[in-house]
Amino acid sequence: MNRELPIGVFDSGVGGLTVVRALRESLPRESFVYLGDTARVPYGTKSPATVVRYSLNNARFLLSSGIKMLVVACNTASAHAIPALQKELSIPVVGVVEPGARAALAATRDGCIGVIGTYGTVESGAYQKAISELRDRLEVAAEPCPLLVPLAEEGWLTGDVPRLVASEYLGRLHARFPQADTLVMGCTHYPLFRELLADVTLRLFGREVVLIDSGVAATAEVVHLLRRRELEHPGEAPGTLRVMVTDRSRIEQVGSRFLGEPLTDVSSVDVPA
Ligand code: DGL
Repeated sequence: MNRELPIGVFDSGVGGLTVVRALRESLPRESFVYLGDTARVPYGTKSPATVVRYSLNNARFLLSSGIKMLVVACNTASAHAIPALQKELSIPVVGVVEPGARAALAATRDGCIGVIGTYGTVESGAYQKAISELRDRLEVAAEPCPLLVPLAEEGWLTGDVPRLVASEYLGRLHARFPQADTLVMGCTHYPLFRELLADVTLRLFGREVVLIDSGVAATAEVVHLLRRRELEHPGEAPGTLRVMVTDRSRIEQVGSRFLGEPLTDVSSVDVPA
């Protein structure tokens, strides 16, 4: 395996750039090639079979461009497609669900973990299963928070509207699971609401709830795996980021919000079905 190859990352759209941001902070010498399936986003409302099909197409496309590792930044795709991807690909595949579950276990005090995500992620039960399998006697409850996705893309991160939306969703979680001490942000878009979510959970639960960023947790896994498989880039120069999208509409404006810096190398691609 050529250690100079980039790491491939895919997501349903622009949200996975929050994961790329975390990856680039931890791995400044690695190069990344990102595929955002903006023509077919959202994945969070689609059936598991469709998400698996799109995920395999995305992975094959990235593989054909030459990558040494695949990171599935999308929580919904990680929830549905990791076994299919690992079966087909001979390179290491890292999703966000298992690292997020492990980070939640490390953080929880009383073993009570809440999860928020898209309908697809929550209904798949992937986080609930991954968490329950880590240790006996862990309690888990999950709540879909779909409206946070368009709010993040709109850049509506503070103020009355996102606060009301977050309070409504987390109020539902609190009603069922007031003992939660840790909350997994199981969607690429939610880290943009970290401060708001911290404040809303504090008010609802009456104490601090630890927020887990699955993308950051996955980054730690990528760092570890690169080392273990001896795949770290040998050079000293800063790595590059190439962004490919299946639909270009408003990508620069929206994408830079998720990446935390301007997108400089963006191209439009067709992912074969
Ligand atoms: N990237 C998706 C996720 O993390 C959110 C957007 C979508 O529904 O496609 O689940």
